[in-house]
Amino acid sequence: MPPSPVRPPVRSATDVLERCRELVRPALVEAVGRLHPWTGEMAAYALGWADTAGNPDPGGSEGKGVRQALAVLGAEAVGADGSDGVPGAVAVELVHTFSLLHDDIMDADALRRQRPAVWKAYGTGPAVLAGDALFAQAVATLAEARGRYTAAAVRCLARTLGALVAGQAEDLRFEDRPWHGPDAVGPDRYRLMAEQKTGALLGGAIALGAVLGGAPDRTVNALERAGRHLGLAFQAVDDILGIWGDPEVTGKPVHADLRQGKKTYPVLTALAGEGRAARELAVLLDSGRRIDGETAERVARLVEEAGGRTATREEARRHLDTARRALRETPLTGAAADELDALFAYVLDRTW
Ligand code: IPE
Ligand code: MG
Ligand code: MG
Repeated sequence: MPPSPVRPPVRSATDVLERCRELVRPALVEAVGRLHPWTGEMAAYALGWADTAGNPDPGGSEGKGVRQALAVLGAEAVGADGSDGVPGAVAVELVHTFSLLHDDIMDADALRRQRPAVWKAYGTGPAVLAGDALFAQAVATLAEARGRYTAAAVRCLARTLGALVAGQAEDLRFEDRPWHGPDAVGPDRYRLMAEQKTGALLGGAIALGAVLGGAPDRTVNALERAGRHLGLAFQAVDDILGIWGDPEVTGKPVHADLRQGKKTYPVLTALAGEGRAARELAVLLDSGRRIDGETAERVARLVEEAGGRTATREEARRHLDTARRALRETPLTGAAADELDALFAYVLDRTW
């Protein structure tokens, strides 16, 4: 009997992120370098490459790089070279940066990745413009990519952008919705919002890689679906970190979602409970009191006691399982399939 082929050991998720980051960086630097110098300076700040004086910033963080890695692995997993996915990786990383830049303005969050958000560092007008510049550059990067699949890739990006903006619209509109009654946000509406605001870009990233790698529609769609479920898991974890995360680690303010009246999964599921904590939480939220400082601490405690944290963790786990199943059921090649799986699993255990 011939010996079975020896499979190389699967890289850890952090090694995968690092490998993909190295592969993408030159093209990302080049894309940012093509911006107007002022918007380029803000983009370099947002990406953690520079401080507000334009000097290298040892305290800067580029972020986890999950989306760029998904695009690279999407290409590799359908049998193409990782470099084929790079224009898609650059595009999603630019879109991600733009969306955070604008999101911090919309959410009135002053801190991002341990430093002042771009609108705090440069002003709101300039930050809006820097976001616009990144958006435009994302489209240009993809539209100018050489190869047979450019038009399909631009269509994929356009679809992704439309969904992302729709998700943000829902997220913002939900702030004014009541916690109870016929206008309250139910779990299905929450899921649709989260799938769009977060899942669209994770699904779009992996789909873009697959499109640029020449995959058939069936494979692209299956990977996109997997990425969307990954996004739902990602957002559930984000909701948890927003209430119980360590701001030193997340680099974002804690309790900001509570202050803003965001309809997050932990709070919605806690309110659906029947015990004392759920009732107390309902009274507190319905009182219209400002949720800040000690009141926010109390809300966080009640949400936890009413089971909101556990339910959200389970929600994340369910979507991760669905995502990983969708991966396994898609015919993929090489080590990238295992690396994708490792990256998917990482999303649930992340602390930032
Ligand atoms: C950000 O969502 C989603 C987009 C920018 C489209 P959140 O507002 O929930 O994310 P964080 O917590 O600020 O990172
Ligand atoms: Mg937001
Ligand atoms: Mg936000």
